[in-house]
Amino acid sequence: MAYNRTLITAALPYANGPVHIGHLAGVYVPADIYARYLRLKGQKVLFVCGSDEHGVPVTIRARKEGVTTQQVVDRYHELIKRSFADFGVSFDIYSRTTSDIHHKFAADYFKAMYEAGQFIEETSEQFYDEATGHFLTDRNIRGECPRCHSLGAYGDQCEKCGATLSPDELINPYNAETGNPLTKKATKHWYLPLDQYQSWLEDWILNQHKEWRPNVYGQCKSWLDSGLKPRAVTRDLDWGIPVPLEGAEGKVLYVWFDAPIGYISNTIELCQAQPEKFGNWEQWWKQQDTRMLHFIGKDNIVFHCIVFPAMLKAQGYNLPDNVPSNEFLNLEGDKISTSRNWAVWLNEYLDDFPGKQDVLRYVLTANAPETKDNDFTWADFQARNNNELVAIYGNFVNRALVLTNKYFDGRVPACGELTEYDKEVIAQIANYKSQIENLLDAFRFRDALKEAMNLARIGNKYLADTEPWKLAKTDMERTATVLHLSLQIAANLAIAFEPFLPISSDKLRNMLQLDKTIGWDAIGRIDLLAEGHQLGEVSLLFEKIEDAAIQAQLDKLAHIKAENEAAAEAEALKNWRPEPVKELTNIDEFAKNDIRVATVLDCQPVKKSERLLQFTLDDGMGGRTILSGIAKSYPDPSVLIGKQVLFIANFPPRKMMGIESQGMILSAEDADGRLVLTTVSAPVKNGCQIG
Ligand code: 2FM
Ligand code: ZN
Repeated sequence: MAYNRTLITAALPYANGPVHIGHLAGVYVPADIYARYLRLKGQKVLFVCGSDEHGVPVTIRARKEGVTTQQVVDRYHELIKRSFADFGVSFDIYSRTTSDIHHKFAADYFKAMYEAGQFIEETSEQFYDEATGHFLTDRNIRGECPRCHSLGAYGDQCEKCGATLSPDELINPYNAETGNPLTKKATKHWYLPLDQYQSWLEDWILNQHKEWRPNVYGQCKSWLDSGLKPRAVTRDLDWGIPVPLEGAEGKVLYVWFDAPIGYISNTIELCQAQPEKFGNWEQWWKQQDTRMLHFIGKDNIVFHCIVFPAMLKAQGYNLPDNVPSNEFLNLEGDKISTSRNWAVWLNEYLDDFPGKQDVLRYVLTANAPETKDNDFTWADFQARNNNELVAIYGNFVNRALVLTNKYFDGRVPACGELTEYDKEVIAQIANYKSQIENLLDAFRFRDALKEAMNLARIGNKYLADTEPWKLAKTDMERTATVLHLSLQIAANLAIAFEPFLPISSDKLRNMLQLDKTIGWDAIGRIDLLAEGHQLGEVSLLFEKIEDAAIQAQLDKLAHIKAENEAAAEAEALKNWRPEPVKELTNIDEFAKNDIRVATVLDCQPVKKSERLLQFTLDDGMGGRTILSGIAKSYPDPSVLIGKQVLFIANFPPRKMMGIESQGMILSAEDADGRLVLTTVSAPVKNGCQIG
């Protein structure tokens, strides 16, 4: 259906930490490219976002930092908003879900659904901490894993064995924060009966939206295939929007109920503030000629394709036309994680690479996780900057402008007679508009960017082939034509790259003094700069990034990795419990094991083995050799010489790596999980028995 305006939403980030490259690559850069592209085409666009300030992640952060939840959201809302502005993400509004407008609108939305009989009320038994008087969410419940029996498994997952769990399965569940044991208590909640929307959703998504990205369509299909069930839209928490019903004290709207409504309340806030520019909010949400797009990450698919559409449908709002969702971006081979500080934070990036926002936008788009998870590496970042932005785009533009300054006083020279080669280049340029456009319209941003860079390649090659710096010695008229055409290509590049690299395009537009009204439709034209047009001041569009700057980032990550490993070890130790005592035995059984003391005379690593150490022992019985798999614990095995150790003397001899081992030396695990030898507290006779 034809549309007259596009509403673009970008997932509301949780205000529980700064934003990182994963956010930018997954959601905000693609959404911004698309919004800028449509605006450049002269279309009506509203690009809306804001901070998601409710939900458990925010409260967990507050407790971790020892501050109030309000302080956390205030701090991160400002930081996130600033980062987006710094990176040129051109939201028309970036508001927050703690705003008065949102609280009121979300509560009214709930009430309208309630009054229309669109919820089910249900009372169920939930985990409860009597001591604090709180119900607990899955993530805040820990206990013994029913599968691997490790302690400290979460109510939704055991991180040790990876099992997906529900809190009911945990053995001896406790409050993760207080350690208090939990009981069950009855509590009433309101549920969105998604099962009632099943057949409508099946038709709407599976039949009518086959064009959605395969990852989005596939996830929806698998949810629908397994049958939708009612989902609670309220929670027993003290942070959130109070449920606006009598008898619902202490209950709030589930964060995933209120957050997407934030798209609507933020639209309302904007339209109320600037009615002349954005008109009435309802036209964006209810009029049929408005097209809506949700840009999100893959963990948000079910909420934006199933839950929120059901809520919108219930109240007669528009539904999304498309939900372009990206997969995840990893960092140097590891999953990006806020809690493990494994990320490149946008605010820190800008401290380290001031003014280089577009470089990051470029790299994140060129390597966007559109169809599969992708990896960000600093080596790729440097290579793309130095070999593409600097060597192709920047180099071309710089040469065209500098040579125009040198030979023509910074004025666009006249276009003389065109050669066959010129005509060929002009014909190629003419194709780019539709090529880039088709890709952008299909939300294929990385391929679209590739085409923009190919246009720069054409310019760069044109200069390299025609060599105006040589021509200038003999043929000024031809030099003028070459530079005239080069400057037109540079103007084309300023426009074609604008959705992707807005800051650089702005700079290039200034250098070219390109008319501000010239928009997307001018791509392919070679009359954008008139003969005699005065160019602006020239500076470098991009600069080389040196190895030292990259090494500094790698060092930073190595440091974080070491910190994380230490923290993981400390956590493992905290959760460690001795093995249960074995079944009863007796002295006769025990006496069958002939455990004795020996002094280590020599200890050497076994060649070609990472694990084994070879011990030469004085066992008081003529000596023996024993191999033990503890090499990792003793990088310098000579420290063991002279120590008295315990060994089992009556194990049958066994050959390993060609050496016969005559028994087993006893060892135990230290705090870091390493095996260490058990020794005796005072000198004893070699060969004497333990008992
Ligand atoms: O996953 C997240 O970060 C959520 N805060 C996204 C919410 S999107 C929308 F529904 F508001
Ligand atoms: Zn487990």
